[in-house]
Amino acid sequence: MSVKINTLEFENVKRIKAVQLAPAKNGLTVIGGDNAQGKTSVLDAIAWALGGNKYKPSSPMREGSVVEPHLKVTLDNGIVVERSGKNSSLKVIDPMGNKGGQALLDGFIESFALDLPKFMNQTTKEKADTLLNIIGVGDKLYELEQQEQTLYNRRTEIGRIADQKEKFAKEMPVYTNVPAEPVSVSELIQSQQEIMAHNAENLRRRQQHEHYKSQLEVAETALKQAQERYDAALNNFKLASVDIDTLVDQSTEELEKNIADVEEINKKVRANADRQTAETEADGYRKQYDGLTEDIENVRKEKRELLQGADLPLEELTVESGELIYKGQKWDCMSGAEQLIVATSIVRKLNPECGFVLLDKLEQMDSTTLESFGKWLESENLQAIATRVSKGDECSIIIEDGMSQENKKVEPKTWKAGEF
Ligand SMILES: Nc1ncnc2c1ncn2[C@@H]1O[C@H](COP(=O)(O)OP(=O)(O)OP(=O)(O)O)[C@@H](O)[C@H]1O
Ligand SMILES: [Mg+2]
Repeated sequence: MSVKINTLEFENVKRIKAVQLAPAKNGLTVIGGDNAQGKTSVLDAIAWALGGNKYKPSSPMREGSVVEPHLKVTLDNGIVVERSGKNSSLKVIDPMGNKGGQALLDGFIESFALDLPKFMNQTTKEKADTLLNIIGVGDKLYELEQQEQTLYNRRTEIGRIADQKEKFAKEMPVYTNVPAEPVSVSELIQSQQEIMAHNAENLRRRQQHEHYKSQLEVAETALKQAQERYDAALNNFKLASVDIDTLVDQSTEELEKNIADVEEINKKVRANADRQTAETEADGYRKQYDGLTEDIENVRKEKRELLQGADLPLEELTVESGELIYKGQKWDCMSGAEQLIVATSIVRKLNPECGFVLLDKLEQMDSTTLESFGKWLESENLQAIATRVSKGDECSIIIEDGMSQENKKVEPKTWKAGEF
């Protein structure tokens, strides 16, 4: 059961001369009036009464008053809080009639509920952390966010390398009509050597033929003396003459040309191989990039699921990258009214035992927004005491010159000053 304010009674506090109020149990109670009439002084008095001396105004006593401030707040859990006398000493009476102190109040009074601007003026990160801590996913989300950031940085680096490699590969030349493997010079040289050996053999045979021919000539001239030598020489000559006319020399011209071309061809073959390697490398990095993209998606999904599973205090309120997001907007892009709703819902969750919140300067809400804010507060079973520069129907009480003038909406007929 959350604690709410039943009645307020303040005298001679700041701008207040005498104000009494019984705020609505649920929803919005608007304190209206012109500027500098004492509206905010009422909220300051509540904060002081319930929050303790750290909320004590710097000039608590109304100027011109000869009587010390008097503050009295009754709560719906039966506790009565009173400050009075020279030192504004605190008196807290519990439902059993026993005396208590500030510690008793601190158990159910949420400090942000007394001072919402303190929450609203936090940094975006502090606000998000407050929310994450109350829904209990702060540590895990922080871990996931670190993980996401690491993967994201790694992917950016890999993407940059992949782009560079791709660009590098594209800039490299590519040749068509060349063999896939480098041509071997040694094979061509071996062919050349075989031809040369063949030709050398031919030469040798020609020389041999010439030799025997000359011997024959010598023998012929010495035929008579060397008939036997002549016969042998003739025989040899005949042997050496076999196929002698059919011998054909082969050309090495084509081969020499090929040898000359080899270096050129091989340059192109190597260039093709280099490009192939570069393309393979770029492809590898691209695949790594895609893998990291998938990892990032998975971490993001895990984050979404973590927050979806958490007990968030407001529909459409979540946290992304360490910032509160409401209806898709970050804090600085929310309307003033939306900021109030978000802040109120978080503060409500901070200490569910505190059933009320103080809201200063509700001028920023138009009447429609004010009405729907009031309905939202009611649905949350939350009591809000707010101020607004207005004397319209939305005001439950009008403050003029430090005095409550009327009490239009909140139990106006049943409330009587003497009841306090
Ligand atoms: N101790 C005090 N005694 C008398 N007057 C005071 C004291 N402290 C502040 N004031 C005066 O009270 C006025 C501010 O009171 P308060 O903030 O409650 O007004 P408000 O109705 O909320 O005004 P606004 O609509 O401008 O917010 C100022 O004019 C200020 O000078
Ligand atoms: Mg004010």
